[in-house]
Amino acid sequence: MAHQSALIAEDIEAYLEAHQNKSLLRFITCGSVDDGKSTLIGRLLYDSKMIFEDQMAALEADSKRVGTQGGAIDFALLVDGLAAEREQGITIDVAYRFFSTDKRKFIVADTPGHEQYTRNMVTGASTADAAVILIDARKGVLTQTRRHSYLVSLLGIRNVVLAVNKMDLVGWDQATFDAIVADYRAFAEKIGLSVFTPIPISGLGGDNIAVRSEHTPWFDGPILMDWLESVEVEDSLQAQPFRMPVQWVNRPNLDFRGFSGQLASGVVKPGDRVKVLPSGRESRVARIVTLPGDLDRAVAGQSVTITLADEVDVSRGDVLVAADSPSAVAGQFEATLVWMDDEPLPPGRSYLLKIGARLVGASVTEIKHRVNVNTLEHTAAKRLELNEIAHVNISLDQAIPFEAYADNRDLGGFILIDRISNRTVGAGLLNFALRRADNIHWQHTDVSKASRAALKSQRGRVIWLTGLSGAGKSTIANLVEKRLHALGRHTYLLDGDNVRHGLNKDLGFTEEDRVENIRRVAEVAKLMVDAGLIVLTAFISPFRAERQLAREILNEGEFVEVFVDTPLAVAESRDVKGLYKKARSGQLKNFTGIDSPYEAPEAAELVIDTTKVDPVAAAEQIVAWLEGDEISYEI
Ligand code: ADX
Repeated sequence: MAHQSALIAEDIEAYLEAHQNKSLLRFITCGSVDDGKSTLIGRLLYDSKMIFEDQMAALEADSKRVGTQGGAIDFALLVDGLAAEREQGITIDVAYRFFSTDKRKFIVADTPGHEQYTRNMVTGASTADAAVILIDARKGVLTQTRRHSYLVSLLGIRNVVLAVNKMDLVGWDQATFDAIVADYRAFAEKIGLSVFTPIPISGLGGDNIAVRSEHTPWFDGPILMDWLESVEVEDSLQAQPFRMPVQWVNRPNLDFRGFSGQLASGVVKPGDRVKVLPSGRESRVARIVTLPGDLDRAVAGQSVTITLADEVDVSRGDVLVAADSPSAVAGQFEATLVWMDDEPLPPGRSYLLKIGARLVGASVTEIKHRVNVNTLEHTAAKRLELNEIAHVNISLDQAIPFEAYADNRDLGGFILIDRISNRTVGAGLLNFALRRADNIHWQHTDVSKASRAALKSQRGRVIWLTGLSGAGKSTIANLVEKRLHALGRHTYLLDGDNVRHGLNKDLGFTEEDRVENIRRVAEVAKLMVDAGLIVLTAFISPFRAERQLAREILNEGEFVEVFVDTPLAVAESRDVKGLYKKARSGQLKNFTGIDSPYEAPEAAELVIDTTKVDPVAAAEQIVAWLEGDEISYEI
C-alpha cells in the first residue's frame, strides 16, 4: 500500500510513468446522514497514503480539538472540510477526491445523504462507474438507502458495493449482516441491481477496508480496497457508432475552422464520412487536431478538434455522427425526471433543457406517473415535488439528435433550467422518442403573416396586460380596443373571464391550471398575430415564466407587456366582484395576492400606475405608446 514514498524516492520518472498508465475508476459513496461516508473516505485516503504530512499534523490537531473520537484521529475531519458542514454536521455538496494505489487511480464523489440533496447525488452519480452504498449496521436498509440505490440503478451504475458499516457496534454479528443483505437484496432485485457485493466494514477501525479484519472470520468476500482495485469497468462506448457533441466552433482565423468537443462514443479517423445533426449535412473528416499534434484516430472520451473537408454549417450544440449510422432526431420524448427544486413542477411550464452542449426550450406535457422509491409503486400526480421521480412526456421547441440514456449518458442525459432564476430544477434521462410527432409536418401556406398584416396596414402584435384581479386590466383593454378600432385598426380582445367560459372552461386556479391557461392564451394570441391582428389580452398572468414564454414565441417587438400596477390594498378596497372578500373569508382558495402569488414584471414595456391615472388616461397612454412605436416601425 505504501506505494507513494517508495517509488517516488527511488525513481520519480518510473513513478510518474506508472501513474499515467494506471486505469481510473470513478465511484460514488452514498448513504444516509451519519452512515459514516466521510470517515470511510478519510480511511481510504489515509490507507492509500494520500495524506500529506502537513494535512496529517492538522488532522491530529483538529481531532483533539473538535473530533468526535475522544482525541484519537477522526477521519471524517479530513473529508468534512466545508465550514458549513462542520457547523451543520451534514455533507452539503459533492466533493470529489482523488487518490491512488499501486494498481489504480480513483476519483470518489462524496455525495450527501440528506434527503434534500438528491441533486448532488445525481450530479455525483452521472459520471460514476461504481457505487459504494453505505448502511449503518444498527439501522439497516432505510428510505435513503432505497432512494440512492434507485438513483444509482437509474443512472446506469451496475457495479455496486453494499458496505455495511459500524459492524463493531453490533458486535461483528454475522446474523445482523446477513439479515441486512437479504433485506437489501429483496429491494435491489426489483430495481435491476441483482448483482452487488456486500462487505461488513468499520470505517473507524479500518476493518475490511484496506486490510482484512480479524473480527469477521465468517466473511470470505473481497475487502473494499481489493474490490475497488479490481472491479471491471466495461467500456462499451468505443464499440458504438461515432458521436461528438460540438462544444465550441474554433475559428482563430479565416483559414481554420474546427469543431471542438469530447467524443461521446465510437472512433473517428480522417477520411470518415460524418453527418452534422440536426441539419443532416454530410462531409468528411479532414483533420483531427489536438495540442500535441494531429491524430490518426480519436476514441470515445477524448477531447479533440475536428475539421471537415467541406464548408458546412456547424454550430455549438450540433452533434457530429457517423454518416452511415446517425443518431435519431426527435422533439418529443418519454423521459425519467428527478425534480430538484423547492418549487414544484407544474406541467406545461416552459424551461430550458440542456443536453450535451445544446440548450432548447422544453416543457413537461404530461406526468405519466410518479415512482414511490420505497414501494416502487406508480402513482398519479398533477405536479412534482422536491426529490420526486416520475416518468413524463416532454416536448421540446425544436428537434434534437439524441440517444437513449441507457445507450449513452452524454446524449441521453439532460437538466432542466428555470428561465428566470437560472436554477437547475431537474435532471432527467431520455428513454425513447414519441412516435406521434413523426407524422406531423409543418404545412406551408402561401399567404404570409406579412401580407395579412399589410392588407390591414398595420403590424400584428400583442398588448399583454398583467396585474392583480381588480387592477383594471379588462376596463383599460376595452378602452384601448375601442380607441384603436376608431383609428381603423384591426383588433381582438382576449379577456380572462371570457376565455374561461369557452376555450379554457376546463381550467381552475391552481398553479398548473394557470400555467396552462396562459400557455393556451399565448398560443392563441400568436395565431392572431399571424392573422395580422393587434391583440389585447387581459389576464392576471401571475407568473413571470409564462409571460416570458408568450414573449419568446412571438417575434421581437411583437410582445408589448403592460403592467397594470395596482397595490393589493387598493385592488382589495375596490373589490368590484366581491372576490377578495370571499378569499379573505376562506370561501375562495388560491386567490391571487391572498394565497396565490403574483410576480410583478421586471422589464415591462409600459407600467401604468392606476393610483395616479384613471382608466381613460391609461388607455390613452397605451395607444399613444403604440402609435408612436408603429410610426417608428413604419419608417
Ligand atoms: S390567471 O391567473 O389564470 O391569469 P385569469 O386572468 O384567467 O387568471 O382569471 C382571473 C379572473 O378570474 C379574476 O379576475 C377573477 O374574476 C376570477 N377568479 C376566480 N377565482 C380566482 C382566483 N382564485 N384567483 C384569481 N382570480 C380568480
